[in-house]
Amino acid sequence: MTSKYLKIEESNGLQYLKIDNPLAEATVSLQGAHVSWWRPKSTTEDVLWLSTDARFEKGRSIRGGVPIIWPWFGQHPTDNSYCIHGFARVIPWELVKSEDLRNGATKLALRMVPTQEVKKQLSYDFSLELVIIIGESLSTNLTTTNNASFPFVISEGFHTYFYISDIENIKIKGLESAVLTDKVNNFKKDIEGDVITFSGSEFDKVYLNNSNDCFIEDEKFNRVITVKKSNSNSTVIWTPGENKAKKMGDMGAKGEWRRMVCVEAVNALENNVVIYPGKSHTIGSEIAVQEY
Ligand code: BG6
Repeated sequence: MTSKYLKIEESNGLQYLKIDNPLAEATVSLQGAHVSWWRPKSTTEDVLWLSTDARFEKGRSIRGGVPIIWPWFGQHPTDNSYCIHGFARVIPWELVKSEDLRNGATKLALRMVPTQEVKKQLSYDFSLELVIIIGESLSTNLTTTNNASFPFVISEGFHTYFYISDIENIKIKGLESAVLTDKVNNFKKDIEGDVITFSGSEFDKVYLNNSNDCFIEDEKFNRVITVKKSNSNSTVIWTPGENKAKKMGDMGAKGEWRRMVCVEAVNALENNVVIYPGKSHTIGSEIAVQEY
């Protein structure tokens, strides 16, 4: 089955799936199965943030949209030369199926194509599939299957960049009272007291043992973005702040970083997932916007 709303485009040696259906527009890079763009047609402002300096190059992750984290979170536990947040976001995937749903949304199914490099970095046999539904909401479901004869452990998630009016204008709700690890403060454990607000400095916290949905309230844009999660027990909230943004090199023009926040539905650190031989596990996220 093929979606009538799907076009495949090529640029700089990479392929992109372009969807323009009655409900939304989206772009998915086959490298990394990366949704670099999605916008429901009903919204006034963009929903995902994409850096004006994002690099669309072989082997590089795109700064913005929805990068996939898999099979480790942050640095590789023993080898710093391996890609941060795992290789899933920088290697080739293939389109398995595209389909138009009755409600006007488009469903895409993608499968990772393990390269020689991947086989070197992981000793076990696995398969990885991503199902994306592009409509009024954006849903992503990542399924890992263990094809090995022994259990293995993964981190995983969706490192989503949201477009906001300004980092100091927003509030994030849903993580009140959650236990967290503060990466900026030497991985110190703490408890989130209240609704999250930002001062403009670097903020990098992993909220643990928490499957709550999150809400990004943006008064200036008169809207709330909802991030629903399934089978995700950690949430990462990240903004780089001025100094880190400057050093990163692909965060866009001066001050552009202020117009994004990452709210990441993940399983990381003590919420890593064990997958037993022959079994599969799916982590999901669904993003929707409500304007008022
Ligand atoms: C977040 C991490 O998930 O991703 C941060 O918690 C990290 O520590 C950020 O800086 C961006 O990572 P990267 O590899 O995309 O630059």
